Amino acid sequence: MRRKVTVVGAGMTGSTMAQRLAETGYIDVVLQDIIEGLPQGKALDLSQSAAVAGFNGSVTGSNDWKNTAGSDVVVITSGVPRKPGMTREELLNINAGIVRDVASATVKHSPDAVLVIFANPMDAMCHVTLETTKLPKNRVIGQGGMLDSSRYRTFIAWETGASVQDVHAFVYGGHTEATMVPIVSNAMVGGVPLTSLLPKERIEAVVQRARNGGAEIVSLLKTGSAFYAPAAATVEMVESILLDKKRVLPCCAYLQGEYGIQDAFVGVPVKLGADGIEQVLEPPLADDEVEGLRKAAAAVKELVGLIETKA
Ligand code: 2OP
Repeated sequence: MRRKVTVVGAGMTGSTMAQRLAETGYIDVVLQDIIEGLPQGKALDLSQSAAVAGFNGSVTGSNDWKNTAGSDVVVITSGVPRKPGMTREELLNINAGIVRDVASATVKHSPDAVLVIFANPMDAMCHVTLETTKLPKNRVIGQGGMLDSSRYRTFIAWETGASVQDVHAFVYGGHTEATMVPIVSNAMVGGVPLTSLLPKERIEAVVQRARNGGAEIVSLLKTGSAFYAPAAATVEMVESILLDKKRVLPCCAYLQGEYGIQDAFVGVPVKLGADGIEQVLEPPLADDEVEGLRKAAAAVKELVGLIETKA
């Protein structure tokens, strides 16, 4: 039986996710957006690729939440980007309002869904979603660490000349340049510690490039932000949930005591299965890395405190 996934937001990220999800062959995809015609047009285009790409599932473009009913997973990509002159607080409050509406509509129509949040600022939007929906914490998962880790692994592969497949390295913490924590202490290339392969300053350069990964793309594209890597990273999470793979992936989870962090969404390794986050893992990290996670928690709490009207 095919599974059902709704992607909310038919922008570049949402529609690229829809393509990847449809091409798995076992997922019916709903692309939901408020803009009339946009999700329908993209869904029709994707549907017309099925004969060549070889998938049988449906891709439905929708402005009506009824079409999303009974989704197994809902990925929320909605929100507006920051415009010139807009403060961080203004952006935060606009997107909090959007995510609140989207999260309410999501649970109304798909009460059993696992929610994956990729609306920015992601860490704060996870809080908004949890508060609005009152879902159990295992069913609200933020996407940021998967993307940031994918970037980190790419830059380590380039720097060491090794296959990216053999680079095991993770970014925890927040999904902002200031709060993300690229982990050096357990980064490995084919089982060889990164610290034994590169001098300290080269590792620092790789860490900085990973931190700046999203901004580097924004400055190249000039209009818009990354979407291929975000889509690939999100689909990896969705598949682990749908297929109950129990992958251990870097995701943003609501922490209650882990690493001494209380009641904050922070990126850590989690086991993802049919119930969403089935376990939060706490690998040993260097002291400065744990400190980085705690700073990320403090930063997201501060941001959440700036959100005006809470649900
Ligand atoms: C990024 O890091 C937009 O959050 C997204 O590229």
